[in-house]
Amino acid sequence: MKIILATSNRGKVREIADLFSEDEVTPYSELIGPMHIVENGSDFAANALIKARSVFSKLPKGGAVVLSDDSGISVPLLNHEPGIFSARYAGEGASDRENLEKLVENLKARGLQEAPAYYTAAIAVVSPEGEYVVHGWMHGRVIDTPRGEGGFGYDPIFIPEGYDQTLGELDPAIKRTISHRAKALELAKPIIGMLRSLHA
Ligand code: IMP
Repeated sequence: MKIILATSNRGKVREIADLFSEDEVTPYSELIGPMHIVENGSDFAANALIKARSVFSKLPKGGAVVLSDDSGISVPLLNHEPGIFSARYAGEGASDRENLEKLVENLKARGLQEAPAYYTAAIAVVSPEGEYVVHGWMHGRVIDTPRGEGGFGYDPIFIPEGYDQTLGELDPAIKRTISHRAKALELAKPIIGMLRSLHA
């Protein structure tokens, strides 16, 4: 089945395409060009739905199934920041590195070398048959010194529970089994399976 992703974040596209390898997974930007989607929802689920609905409304009616991910990292000791603002923590258009550096600065400003943290992912599926949202979480801690080149975003400062290495250092195959996105996508699988049978 064709699944259109309402994201062009290369890290997310890679992780989602890996998990749905039996489907044809295409980022929306290859079909309808760049769109400016205003993510003004008050939580991850609302923003995931905003993205998926925007892309769905631009596609030819009928067959399209759109999947979106809205995700981010939260640090309880920093009032759960950056949360839904993870992609623009250091300002609109900030790079992954700038956002990570702002989080490190804020940890240091509180005298913290590390702090508990968790990633959240909301996955929305919008199809002619209906809309669905599922969530996944990955708990761990953030540290004040980036380590490793793997993953994306905040991965070089995030150590998952039960590990000593950051997601920047760990094998991507491990992240694929324990991540917030993997867990949410696992829940999205039966939804996609049901839609696949309807669209076959
Ligand atoms: P979104 O694209 O608006 O959902 O923003 C997601 C932001 O959260 C990304 O830009 C990253 O900063 C962060 N993020 C989400 N998932 C991950 C992950 O798996 N690793 C690292 N950073 C992530």
